[in-house]
Amino acid sequence: MSETSETKAAERAELLAAAREAGEHAWVPYSHFHVGAALAVETPEGRRVVTGANIENGSYGLTLCAERAALAAAFQHVPPGERPHVTAIAVVGLDARPGECMPCGACRQWFAELAPDADIYIEGVPETLHLDDLLPRRFTLT
Ligand code: THU
Repeated sequence: MSETSETKAAERAELLAAAREAGEHAWVPYSHFHVGAALAVETPEGRRVVTGANIENGSYGLTLCAERAALAAAFQHVPPGERPHVTAIAVVGLDARPGECMPCGACRQWFAELAPDADIYIEGVPETLHLDDLLPRRFTLT
């Protein structure tokens, strides 16, 4: 393995573990489907791992996915008015079969705006994915 692929493999393992831990904190009284997400974010203090979990609501449509919870939290780690540079995203569905917790359409559109060049690691999917894999021909407001 080249140094780069070793580094990528290490990051993948690191972020998937952080996502799994985050998913334990999900609030899922309706689906009982825990999801965790972990991001690698470049901040003025260096690389940070920022996590989130899905938070459900009795008005079901207001549920927040783990990925969007993590992306929203990332803004707290950069100066006001700046967009965080998200270099990697990991997603784990604690109650899903491996490879079956793919980001939903809404989260993919958030990735398009907030993490367009991120490496995307999904538990059970061996390849590193990118936005073009998840959301080709996407909407952008230019
Ligand atoms: N969910 C996520 O958190 N991320 C996804 O990408 C897919 C779905 C959550 C939303 C809801 O709380 C539960 O999984 C079942 O749909």
